[in-house]
Amino acid sequence: MRFPEDVPALTDGTVTLRAHTSADIKPAFDVCQDPVMQQWTTIPVPYEWQHAEQYLTEFIPSGWRDGSSWGWAIEYDGRYAGTIDLRPGAGGVGEIGFGLAPWARSNGVMTRAVKLTLGYAFDQGWERVIWRAYVGNWGSRRVAWKSGFRNLVMAPAHGVARGVRKDEWIASITRDDDPEPQGHWWSVPVLEADGVRLREFRSTDAKRVAEACSDERTQMWLAGLPSPYTLDAAESFIESRQEIRASGEGVTWVIVDPDTDELLGNVSVFDLRNRIDQTMGEIGYWAHPDARGRGVMSKAVGLVIRHAFTPVEDGGLGRRRLALFAAEGNTASMHVAEVNGFTEVGVERSASPTRDGRFLDTHCFDLLRTD
Ligand SMILES: CC(C)(COP(=O)(O)OP(=O)(O)OC[C@H]1O[C@@H](n2cnc3c(N)ncnc32)[C@H](O)[C@@H]1OP(=O)(O)O)[C@@H](O)C(=O)NCCC(=O)NCCS
Repeated sequence: MRFPEDVPALTDGTVTLRAHTSADIKPAFDVCQDPVMQQWTTIPVPYEWQHAEQYLTEFIPSGWRDGSSWGWAIEYDGRYAGTIDLRPGAGGVGEIGFGLAPWARSNGVMTRAVKLTLGYAFDQGWERVIWRAYVGNWGSRRVAWKSGFRNLVMAPAHGVARGVRKDEWIASITRDDDPEPQGHWWSVPVLEADGVRLREFRSTDAKRVAEACSDERTQMWLAGLPSPYTLDAAESFIESRQEIRASGEGVTWVIVDPDTDELLGNVSVFDLRNRIDQTMGEIGYWAHPDARGRGVMSKAVGLVIRHAFTPVEDGGLGRRRLALFAAEGNTASMHVAEVNGFTEVGVERSASPTRDGRFLDTHCFDLLRTD
């Protein structure tokens, strides 16, 4: 192909992909000063003028000429906003890469650009497009999810940036796939009742998480928790909440005091991708010791039940049935279930492991939307 004459302009009316020009060097140089851009891509750091110049006047044009990569400038709101490229590979499988100026982010620009390039790649006969990002690049992962990439896996140390190995997420889409989200990426709306507020976890909640999960009673009834439960464990727990909701597996709220924003407990709905029944969910919780005995958890679970039974199109989890389990002797937990209308439907014998190697009976509760 000739550059720039043969570079196809692609547009959906809001975002336009076009050949780069020398006028893009300055804004491209500016984008690459962004620490977020430097963190998640392989661009040189420090990023100098000559890097931008070489990339736009040598690397991109030669990619079009020899067919090794197709890079477009993203134009949005009448100006250069970033770059997206396709790198063809063997067997009709190629990769996509992208970066956007901070001012243009969170407007759906990259999702539009990705969809335009996917259409082009498949028109050119590609079978599959692969997306890769370093683990933790949630903005990029969300773009990939919104554009229909699927079957995401984590490949340890698969990536490398400036000599440092990084864990990578990898997902792909084929020409026969619908370029739309697969599965849910749940939101964590604020839920409120008198005396309790439920919100998304923040890293600043870690200290109170560690306190709550080190507590003797929490440790006794939740035998799967790390022991001792360190601040590191609390930080990992909080970080892992994003994966749980992005993968559609569940939603976790921190229960806080509405006046002080201090953590009172945790409540989750999980198993939302249950292999046989994707209309069910399981509720789990723990309370900080200083928040116990005043109905905090009962209120919080009530709010979560309402959200879980709300249809997906109204912002809820669209559940038909909720399950809840409590080990023999955990009367406080069974009380929370009962005051929220759950029915005890049976006992699983010797199903709850304890820390000292015993197995207690598990009381099984459920609640139907129609109850
Ligand atoms: C990744 C990037 C291209 C996204 O571009 P964008 O135009 O903002 O993407 P979109 O607006 O289409 O979608 C981004 C979504 O991710 C969300 N998001 C952004 N950062 C996030 C974060 N840290 N955690 C969770 N969600 C995040 C946005 O809110 C938006 O969500 P929405 O769809 O609900 O509005 C841009 O952030 C970027 O250039 N980052 C630096 C370079 C980079 O990471 N490139 C990809 C390397 S694999």
